[in-house]
Amino acid sequence: MYNKEDLLFWTGIMRDHANFQVDTLAPKEHAFIEKSTYFMELFKQFNLEIQNSDSIKKTYPKLLNGLKCFIDYKRGILANQLQCTIAINLPPNNINHQIIEANQFMMLLTTPAPKHMDANMKTMMYTEQLKQWISDTAFHASLLSAVLDPVEEMQIQQAMGFKMNLQKLYIKASEVQIMLMHTGLADGALLQLSNESILMMTEFILFCEKIKELRQACKILAQGTFTPLVPDHFIREQQHWIEKIKENIK
Ligand SMILES: [Fe+2]
Ligand SMILES: [Fe+2]
Repeated sequence: MYNKEDLLFWTGIMRDHANFQVDTLAPKEHAFIEKSTYFMELFKQFNLEIQNSDSIKKTYPKLLNGLKCFIDYKRGILANQLQCTIAINLPPNNINHQIIEANQFMMLLTTPAPKHMDANMKTMMYTEQLKQWISDTAFHASLLSAVLDPVEEMQIQQAMGFKMNLQKLYIKASEVQIMLMHTGLADGALLQLSNESILMMTEFILFCEKIKELRQACKILAQGTFTPLVPDHFIREQQHWIEKIKENIK
């Protein structure tokens, strides 16, 4: 189930994804620029509607349809990228990542809260989500290391450090998930893993804040399409994942 904050978060994330496409498509890709701009405005509009209303009833069908179309559109971009038939300054992995997040939003909108779920199933579902959130943060670190100018070696190495540690944490999460499945336990190791995830994501947020500040002041060299919105987007996602982890362990 979702609440108003979830919807505001996700519509903002979808708006940003379209914005990143607009910022990075080559000028010759008129049709894609037009379509990405359309989705950017559409999700901006949904975000505003949700902000200004107490009920999602009126927005829900439009939102669901808009999200379906946006997922299809992202799939189309990815297919073009894999066949080298589109000029966009985002790697395929980035668009793939955008599709994963859009699917997460779709799941949230369409999956009803299960009536009954035993403790073990609950633990498995949570560890699966936790792995996804860790993997997402690792991807952000990897992306940061790739968009900075090679002269920014210090920040690149820091980003790589986060990526490597998060990947190690992901391996730990996968192993712990199997141990919990075999034993039916849901405490101890899982709480420790959750706290480690919160700590690592919090440290990465601080790093993203520093990068955002430097980029805003034009004090860090990077690809021209690397705007402060990128680290800002990462910060909001990591904060959201931390909130969700806290909800699961309280
Ligand atoms: Fe995202
Ligand atoms: Fe992400």
